Amino acid sequence: MSPRPLLRTLGSLVAALACAVASRAATVRVEVGHVFGDRTLHLGELNYTNAAGDVLSVTRLDYLLSDFALVTAGGGTVALTNQVAYLSAGGGRTQFELRDVPAGRFTGLRFRVGVSPAVNRVDPATIAPGHPLNPAVNGLHWSWQGGYVFLALEGGWHQAGGSVGGYSYHLATDALELPVELPLALQVTSANGPTEQRLTLDIAKIFSGVHSIALTNATASTHSRTNDPLAGQLRDNAIRAFRAESPVVPAAAPAPVLAAAPRHVEMATNATPYRFRLSRFFPQPSLPADNPLTEQGVALGRRLFHDPALSVNGTQSCASCHQADAAFTDAGKRFSTGAEGAIGTRNAMPLANLAWAGRFFWDGRAGSLREQVLQPVTNPAEMHESLTNVVRKLERAGYAPDFAAAFGTAEITADRMARALEQFVLTLTAYDSKFDRVLGVRATFTAEEQRGYELFHTEYDPRHGQYGADCFHCHGGPLFSDFAFHNNGLDADGSAQDPGRFLVTTNRADLAKFKTPSLRNVALTAPYMHDGRLATLEEAVAHYCSGVRRSPTLDPNLGKHPDGGVPLSAEDQHALVAFLRTLTDSAATP
Ligand code: HEC
Ligand code: HEC
Repeated sequence: MSPRPLLRTLGSLVAALACAVASRAATVRVEVGHVFGDRTLHLGELNYTNAAGDVLSVTRLDYLLSDFALVTAGGGTVALTNQVAYLSAGGGRTQFELRDVPAGRFTGLRFRVGVSPAVNRVDPATIAPGHPLNPAVNGLHWSWQGGYVFLALEGGWHQAGGSVGGYSYHLATDALELPVELPLALQVTSANGPTEQRLTLDIAKIFSGVHSIALTNATASTHSRTNDPLAGQLRDNAIRAFRAESPVVPAAAPAPVLAAAPRHVEMATNATPYRFRLSRFFPQPSLPADNPLTEQGVALGRRLFHDPALSVNGTQSCASCHQADAAFTDAGKRFSTGAEGAIGTRNAMPLANLAWAGRFFWDGRAGSLREQVLQPVTNPAEMHESLTNVVRKLERAGYAPDFAAAFGTAEITADRMARALEQFVLTLTAYDSKFDRVLGVRATFTAEEQRGYELFHTEYDPRHGQYGADCFHCHGGPLFSDFAFHNNGLDADGSAQDPGRFLVTTNRADLAKFKTPSLRNVALTAPYMHDGRLATLEEAVAHYCSGVRRSPTLDPNLGKHPDGGVPLSAEDQHALVAFLRTLTDSAATP
C-alpha cells in the first residue's frame, strides 16, 4: 500500500493529541544502562561469557523503542503516543525523554522494542532530519526490503581452534512483536524539573533468558525471516532483558539549564537561497543550520575549490585531487601527490552526498565538513599553505566582492572560506544513475544486473537457503553506505598496517576500521579501499569472496561467513560487478 494515506492518518493523530496533552507538563528523563550480567558493557571487548560458555564480544547494539505507556497506581494506563527513542551503545545514545507525562505515581512502564506496523510502513524519506526514525540518524532502515530493524545486536566469538567468528542478530518485521512491561516506582511531579528513571538492558539475558543460545555456525545470524526459530528465541529473551532500577531521588534543586551557545550565522541578507535537490528515496539530510546554502555562497565555494592559490606554490587546487570527471577522486591514482611532491598514504575519497555523512576522512577525524575543508590546505602532504597566506592571496586576487555577495561584507577570513567550501561540497550529489531510473520505473536492469542487485541485497544464510552476498549490511540504503566504521578484512592484523579509526579513538576495538565508502559512482573511483590496493571492481568483489581475513576487529557481518568470504561463483561475481556499474550518476559522466 502507498504510505501517503497513512501519513495523513499519523498527521491527524498528532493534531488530536496536541489538544489532549495541554495539561501534561512533566518530562521523564530515561537513562538506559547496557550491561552483560554484572559487568558494564564495553563494545568490542572479546571477554564476555554467555550461559553456554561461549566467549564473545558485542560490537553493535542499536535499537528503537516506541509505544510507551505508564501504568498508574490505580491500574490505569497513560499512553505516550508518537514518542520514539533510538538507542545506540556505540553511538553513545543511552538517554531519551518521555514527554507530556501527567503528574502522578506510576507502577509500571510498557513499551515495544521497534515500531508498530503502521510506523513501519511510513515512507522513511518523509521523516524530519534529526528525528530518531530518520534512517540517516539510526541506520536501522532496510530500504528496499522495507521497514526498520527493531534491534541490531552484533559481535564476535571465539571459535574452536582460536579464530574469531561473527554473529549478527537483526530482529525485525511486523510479525515479530517485542512488547516489554516493567514494574517500577515512579513519582512524577511537574514542579521539580525533569524526573529521572534508569533502565538496564542486560545482553547476557538475550543469550540466555528463556532459551539458552550457544554460538555455532547455525546460530550466528538471523534476519527475522518468517519461521526462523532463532528470531523467536531471541525475541523471547530480549523482551525479558530489560529492567527498571529503583527511583533516583531527585536533587534538591533542579540542575541549572546551560544556555545553548548562540549559533553564529553568516549570510548576506540579499543572498539567494540555494535549492538543495535530493532523490525522493533519500532520508532528509541535516544541513548546517548556521551556514544556510545560498547561490552566492556555493558559487564562491566552487571558485575556491578550483583555485590553486590555496596551495603553497600555486600549483594545486582541491580539484587537482578531486576531479569532477572521476567522481571527484584523483583519477586512477592510488595515492595523491601534494603541491610540493609529497606522496600521501591514503586514496583520495570521492565527494558526493556528503550531506548525509556525519564524519569525514577514512578515519572520521573531522566531525564536520567545515572542519574538514581547511585541513587539506594546511596538510604538509597536500597543499601545505598557511591560512593567513591564503587569506592574503585571496584579497590580492580580488575575491572581496564574492565574499560580500555571500556573507554581507567584503571581509575575507578562514572561517568564511570554510563556510563557502562547505556549501559547495554539500551541493555535490549523486542520485541519477541507472539504478535510480530502475527504481523510478524509467529503465530496466539486464538479467545480469538484476541478479547482481539481488545478490547485493540478500544475506548469506545457507541454513535458510539464502545464498546472497550480504553487501547491504554496510552499503545498504539509497546512499549505499551506513557511513559507519568497519573492518572489512583487508589485513589479518590491523595494527601492523594503517590503524584507521583507532588513530582517532585510540580504542583497540577500532583497529583497522575505516569509513564505509558509498558505492555510488564506484565504477569511476578506482583504485579501491583506503589505500587503493585493489585496482578493479572485479578485485574488490573477489576480496569479499576469498580475501577476507580474520582478526579480532573483523566486522561480524563478514566474520559469520566461511573462511575467506561468501563463496560466490565467477558468474555471480560478474553479476555483482554489473550491478555496481549501474550506480554511476549521469551527472558524473562527462
Ligand atoms: C593532494 C590531494 C588532495 C587535495 C589537494 C585535496 N584533497 Fe581532499 N582528500 C584527499 C585524500 C587523500 C583524502 C582522504 C584522506 C584521509 O582519509 O586521510 C581526502 C578526503 C577529502 C574529504 C572527505 C570525504 C569523506 O567522504 O569523508 C573531503 C570532503 C575533501 N577531501 C575535500 C577537499 C577539499 C575541499 C579540498 C581543497 C581545500 C581538498 N579535499 C584537497 C586528497 C586531497
Ligand atoms: C562489514 C561491512 C561491509 C560489508 C558487509 C561490505 N563492505 Fe564493502 N566496504 C566496507 C568498508 C569499511 C570499506 C572500506 C575499507 C577500507 O578501505 O579499508 C569497503 C569498501 C568497498 C569497496 C571499495 C570502494 C572504494 O571506493 O574504495 C567496494 C567496491 C565494496 N566495498 C563493495 C562491497 C561489496 C560488493 C560487498 C558485498 C559482497 C561489500 N562491499 C560488503 C564495508 C563493508
